[in-house]
Amino acid sequence: MKRATDFHSFSKPDEAVVTHLKWLANVDFATRTITATAIYTIETSADAKRIILDIRELEVNSVTVDGEAASFEIGEEQPFLGSPLSIGVKHGTKEVSISYKTQPGADAFLWVEGEKPFLFTQSQAILARTWIPCQDSPGVRFTYEALVKVPKGLMALMSAVNPTEKSDDGYYSFKMNQPIPSYLLALAVGDVEFRSVGEHTGVYATPDLIDAAEYEFSEMEELLVAAEGLYGKYAWERYDLLVLPAAFPFGGMENPRLTFATPTIIAGDRSLVSLVAHELAHSWSGNLVTNSTWDDFWLNEGFTVYFEQRIMEAVYGREISEMLATLSFQGLSEEIEIMMELNPNDTHLRLHLKDRNPDDGMTAIAYDKGYLFLRMLEEHVGREIFDNFLKTYFASNAFKVMDTDNFIEYLNANLLTTKDLREGGNISAWIDGAGIPDNCPIIKSDRIKKVDAAVLAWSKRSILTENLDWENWLYQERYRFLTNIPESVDVTLLNELNKQYNISETGNNEILFAWLEQAILKGHDASYPRLEEFLINVGRRKFLTPLYKAMLDSDQTEMANHIYSLARPNYHSVATGTMDELLGVE
Ligand code: BES
Ligand code: ZN
Repeated sequence: MKRATDFHSFSKPDEAVVTHLKWLANVDFATRTITATAIYTIETSADAKRIILDIRELEVNSVTVDGEAASFEIGEEQPFLGSPLSIGVKHGTKEVSISYKTQPGADAFLWVEGEKPFLFTQSQAILARTWIPCQDSPGVRFTYEALVKVPKGLMALMSAVNPTEKSDDGYYSFKMNQPIPSYLLALAVGDVEFRSVGEHTGVYATPDLIDAAEYEFSEMEELLVAAEGLYGKYAWERYDLLVLPAAFPFGGMENPRLTFATPTIIAGDRSLVSLVAHELAHSWSGNLVTNSTWDDFWLNEGFTVYFEQRIMEAVYGREISEMLATLSFQGLSEEIEIMMELNPNDTHLRLHLKDRNPDDGMTAIAYDKGYLFLRMLEEHVGREIFDNFLKTYFASNAFKVMDTDNFIEYLNANLLTTKDLREGGNISAWIDGAGIPDNCPIIKSDRIKKVDAAVLAWSKRSILTENLDWENWLYQERYRFLTNIPESVDVTLLNELNKQYNISETGNNEILFAWLEQAILKGHDASYPRLEEFLINVGRRKFLTPLYKAMLDSDQTEMANHIYSLARPNYHSVATGTMDELLGVE
């Protein structure tokens, strides 16, 4: 398949392409920099004149081509894309090497200093170029190896074969033998320990969290077995999970062999493991079959949410997965309502992110509209046929890219093989149409229906607070309740709810988040100290955006600015990027 044009990379892989990276790096916490040499094995076309790599805010010191010192050229810097680094090569050139240094403020990094130093990277979507010069496009795959030196006493981990013990001298070597795109390059350094939780699965966490992590994620092997049962053999040998500091801007990141996860999913009762199912599912959708460009992001995330739900159904039953699906539908409907006002085109599955930050594509559309599209297809053709289709899809496209047009072609050739099937699918309304198409599946959850009835009755005081079934509800039901409290409910009733069930003290961060949002909207000031503490400690953008927004929307801008001024130094660039804009910080 011809490589699609990726507007978010300067590289020209058809002229010269990286096939292997050898990375030699020294990690220095004192200066917050990495000094490194990157040695690339390349393949060149017959008329190759140069190889172009993406860089952003990197200090390039020297370059060699097949062992000889060579000159290089750095093009003009562009917002969020950085610059092209162009190095002269010719047909037959085998190896290019670059010695360089990262900047202390490099956007991929988050450095935690002090007693418990920690460093982690976040490369997706286009931040790999802030720590390694690379052809930073999901359509370019390469294998890699690395030798990394870190301060003694810390462990280094990558999206590769990993150590399970600390080394004595601070040196660690890594190998990733399966070709991966640059956005899956990852490094973490910290005082972490390893615990095995299954034959192919394990967790890494700091000593204070390792016991809790071992308990919370002890079902990972079962998830892996269920996933393999659905869509074929796991291609990456091991599946481990690293618990990151709370500043991690995402819930999880599917770095191959080693998912990075927020500690906020450690609830003590395994109630938030669907996030692990999600990141695990990316081992097929995303890491094995990869979106060709960020315009095709839904191929990564929509497939993954669908697969996540199927894993959850296989392991925990349909009742649980239907509750999760209902929450996903609610999130989608709320977001679409806002997006239809701002830019309805952004509600199409196929995006148009040229000249925009690919981060703009990280909305409920790719995730939840993508999920519903696949669920519609499943219901349209029947589960058995759909599962076989997906299994073959992953097997025949493994380690390749996929774009929206090619997927539709594949779909028509292999699933929607008759005119009737194609017409009933209403495909173009999903792919290039706004909002939620008419043939959207209907999700049925009796348990959620009961919660909806309860919240309504409670809001009218026809059910007393003490008679709610709160204590027997699962996380999904509690979350549904809190996110559906009508505007008419006042702070007195909210206070009563909290007194009865102590919600502001919950150890489940999803519930706490939903509670804090209500507390802000209704002016429950007794919760504000907890809010401040939460926002200072937790950097997960999915929580930050709605909470700061709720403060702005309820005329509590001063509080928002005050908390943000305290919290901002702890956040990752991905989070400050969004929050600076929201709060009008220069
Ligand atoms: N790959 C994403 C995270 C991501 C997407 C980072 C785009 C940067 C750019 C990851 O798999 C993800 O979707 N995380 C979600 C988890 C959730 C949907 C279960 C998150 O972090 O909220
Ligand atoms: Zn995802």
